[in-house]
Amino acid sequence: MKFTYYGQSCFTIDVSGKSILFDPFISGNPLASHIDINRIHCDYIVISHGHEDHIADALRIAKNTNAKVVSNFEIVNWLAAQGITNNHPMNIGGHWFFDFGKIKCVNAVHSSTLPDGTNGGNPMGFLVESEGKIFYYSGDTALTYDMKLIGDYKKVDFALLPIGGNFTMGVDNAIIASDFIKCEKIIGLHFDTFGFIKINHAEAIEKFAAAGKHLLIPEIGKSYDF
Ligand code: NI
Ligand code: MN
Repeated sequence: MKFTYYGQSCFTIDVSGKSILFDPFISGNPLASHIDINRIHCDYIVISHGHEDHIADALRIAKNTNAKVVSNFEIVNWLAAQGITNNHPMNIGGHWFFDFGKIKCVNAVHSSTLPDGTNGGNPMGFLVESEGKIFYYSGDTALTYDMKLIGDYKKVDFALLPIGGNFTMGVDNAIIASDFIKCEKIIGLHFDTFGFIKINHAEAIEKFAAAGKHLLIPEIGKSYDF
């Protein structure tokens, strides 16, 4: 699987010949000013919750690419009302087999109001299975005991977790989360974009290493193989 980072919690995973874009927020992120969103190719857009820093470019990229939008029922309906009819509504606890593999929606402890104040349903995380591997993208969330269910469910090969703190869990709780999900390979997300979530990279990597885990702090615009 190829992982490409676009800043905040926005990334693509290329798997089984498809490109899946998660939580599109690029044009409003000064750290990602070198990314041209018109050049982003994707077959699916998966959205964890309704906050601006996860959905701001969803409409534009969905219209550019005609990618299928996968999110909770409320967010899919909100985008459908703006003309995005290629969509698939889901909710927590449900799963679906897409042409690249399986997505299971799991609990996230956060909020989800949409940018215009519309109710954005409940925030979600995702377990994605494809090519015999499983990854977990938690979305914005606190540390929660529900993550233990994921660790008991199946072997998670790598996980994408917020590490910026303030709005979500930070480094220390993300380490506990990676214990709960029994995963040693973590990609950090949701850091540095705003003042409240600026972190010390070296310290974060050291803390994960001391816990026997590997933290990747990705660079915006770069791709990594997992
Ligand atoms: Ni959020
Ligand atoms: Mn966020």
